[in-house]
Amino acid sequence: MQITSAYLYALLFALPALAASAEHGRATDRPLELILLRDNEGICNVLTLRDTQKVRGLQAGSVHTNRLQTHAQPQSGEERVSLVSYDERALWAAAQAECSNTVIPEHAGQVLQQDALTAPHATYSDSFGGSAPPLQIEPLIQSGDSSNRVDLVFFADGYTADEHAKFIADALRLAEDVSYNQTFNTVKPLLNFWAAFTPSKESGIGVGGKPKDTAFGLYRDGTELRGVYYSKPKVARAACLSLGDACDYPILLGNDPLYGGLGGEFTVITPSPANGPLVLRHELGHSVINVGEEYDGGFAYFGVDAAQNLSTPVPWAHWLTPSVTDNADQVVRSERAVMPLQNYAWTMLNASTPWATTFNASGRYARHLVRFSLSGLPAAADLSVRLDGEDLGWAPRKDIGVDRWHYDVHRDDGLKDGLHEVSFTLKNKEREGIAQMCSVEILEFGDESQFNATPGHYSMYPTFSLKNETTYRPTNEDCLMRQVTTPNFCSVCVEGLWLSLLRRVDLIDELNTACTPRRGSPKVNLTANLALVPLAQFRAGAGDSDVAPQESYAIRWTKDGVPLHHFTNQTRLAINGEDTGAVYAVDVTFATEEVHVDKEGLLTAHRDIVLSKIC
Ligand SMILES: *[C@@H]1O[C@H](CO)[C@@H](O)[C@H](O)[C@H]1NC(C)=O
Ligand SMILES: *[C@@H]1O[C@H](CO)[C@@H](O)[C@H](O)[C@H]1NC(C)=O
Ligand SMILES: *[C@@H]1O[C@H](CO)[C@@H](O)[C@H](O)[C@H]1NC(C)=O
Ligand SMILES: *[C@@H]1O[C@H](CO)[C@@H](O)[C@H](O)[C@H]1NC(C)=O
Ligand SMILES: *[C@@H]1O[C@H](CO)[C@@H](O)[C@H](O)[C@H]1NC(C)=O
Ligand SMILES: *[C@@H]1O[C@H](CO)[C@@H](O)[C@H](O)[C@H]1NC(C)=O
Ligand SMILES: *[C@@H]1O[C@H](CO)[C@@H](O)[C@H](O)[C@H]1NC(C)=O
Repeated sequence: MQITSAYLYALLFALPALAASAEHGRATDRPLELILLRDNEGICNVLTLRDTQKVRGLQAGSVHTNRLQTHAQPQSGEERVSLVSYDERALWAAAQAECSNTVIPEHAGQVLQQDALTAPHATYSDSFGGSAPPLQIEPLIQSGDSSNRVDLVFFADGYTADEHAKFIADALRLAEDVSYNQTFNTVKPLLNFWAAFTPSKESGIGVGGKPKDTAFGLYRDGTELRGVYYSKPKVARAACLSLGDACDYPILLGNDPLYGGLGGEFTVITPSPANGPLVLRHELGHSVINVGEEYDGGFAYFGVDAAQNLSTPVPWAHWLTPSVTDNADQVVRSERAVMPLQNYAWTMLNASTPWATTFNASGRYARHLVRFSLSGLPAAADLSVRLDGEDLGWAPRKDIGVDRWHYDVHRDDGLKDGLHEVSFTLKNKEREGIAQMCSVEILEFGDESQFNATPGHYSMYPTFSLKNETTYRPTNEDCLMRQVTTPNFCSVCVEGLWLSLLRRVDLIDELNTACTPRRGSPKVNLTANLALVPLAQFRAGAGDSDVAPQESYAIRWTKDGVPLHHFTNQTRLAINGEDTGAVYAVDVTFATEEVHVDKEGLLTAHRDIVLSKIC
């Protein structure tokens, strides 16, 4: 998979605590978002200033920051920085702190002096932005209003006007694959999936570094199956920005049947039946949960599923087997494994000379694994894979054709101390120009008492980077961030997924209140109707799904702080004859077995009902 190093953190600014939006007279509780493109020298361009969906837990005057690599070609280290705050002054100050050029525009300078806000929706894109192409929007899977959901949008590239139906079918298949009974299934009520169609003049994506005449200009560098890049980032940005709240994660879907993709500001994928869902799930894991890799040979290991060392408390102490929640100081052990070889060769094979490489083993491990990925090799007779001359009996995945796939050969014996060779021999000359050895890795493991390979076992598993530096992950092979062919995240990532999504989604979709005066009395009648995000008992088809997590909503109503037990767990409150000085409130707590620790209270929601304001 191509890289993403999406990371996200909150910056608390030491500016004087400024009042929230209401005091500046904005008729909305929505914060402002300033989006910058920043190159590796710190030169910034302001893409837009707009109002945006809530970021939960965002204090007045503080700024929430989110960064994504843009993968501009040639690689410039450019990133897209999104800053969100209720306070425009804090926003510009944070932007200026990111950038070496002046980004604060003149009229924002006046803002700083006069302490007045510019209008939301103002756009500073100038010549820097592009204009959005025509977009025909269709919902694929919808759970609620975009202002309180996380929205994923498939944009069409290389689909002609005649291929509209194919685009919708491809996008729907991908959306269903990642959310039907696996991966994002349990969080689906927090997500919307959309298809946004733009006809391209030509069908398919470019090769040899040359885009075709398509909406976003997608292309491969050569002909080999690897990265797919985009040549019209401004158009893609404008397309996503034009959708406002309905575009949190843009996905550029290139009309090509084979493996390829890219992560970062835009997730780029193809509808390859074998690889499209696999790349999509993995790249969304990076951008939505905000985690790095779990597989060996990467360079970015961060987020909820990565520990830099064995110090306690372990980040996933509450998931360890056996659970050590009550004894977080206990010494944790590393599962015993080593990686003597790791090579992302991405090499084209030829029939004249095998591709081979050597590595040293220590002779101190009980078992080993040969892990590799190939493309352009549809038949077992096309290739032999050997370790120290011994044929490993490779055969392609059924129906893989010339697409890329991943193979594991587990061997229950130890490698001897000394030098070993792994080789890939192309036996079918006709496959030259297409047959590719993408990656090969050798891992060695201790015996069962030293390395617990059981699925569902949570511990400290060593992961080896490109530079052979060790970090730790929670499971052996349970997570699609490591084993891209598995469809699910591990529990640690699923918990991270809930928390990331609930930072943008409030459990309360709506609270409608009505106050009716009573004739001949200073008292009033009050009704309140609560609409919650459809989880737990409010899930559509709750109970029929094959993936049914244990979850519940608890609803508590109070009057002036005193519980109204009669209404517990009810979504409707009805009070006859109330004093207009009273303050009612509702507190909602969501519980799911998939979240064990919620430090920031993201699984709770609260609303006050101040009668003097609504009556
Ligand atoms: C989910 O459904 C697909 C078919 O729609 C099936 O191939 C897959 O095995 C199912 N996954 C699980 C985890 O049940
Ligand atoms: C261990 O890693 C954590 C981050 O995961 C870091 O905060 C801590 O300083 C490290 N401890 C040592 C002893 O290196
Ligand atoms: C990585 O480091 C380990 C331990 O030092 C060593 O045994 C192994 O051979 C190294 N692997 C590579 C690919 O350099
Ligand atoms: C054939 O492949 C081998 C191994 O990758 C390489 O060393 C050699 O240059 C290739 N030969 C040709 C003609 O491409
Ligand atoms: C294997 O070890 C020998 C002896 O230490 C060393 O000379 C050689 O370079 C190593 N080979 C590889 C491929 O690491
Ligand atoms: C309300 O719902 C919660 C969560 O299901 C449950 O634990 C609690 O017992 C319920 N309370 C009442 C009074 O029904
Ligand atoms: C308020 O509630 C009382 C008692 O249920 C009812 O008789 C009355 O009609 C209500 N008044 C209004 C204006 O809804």
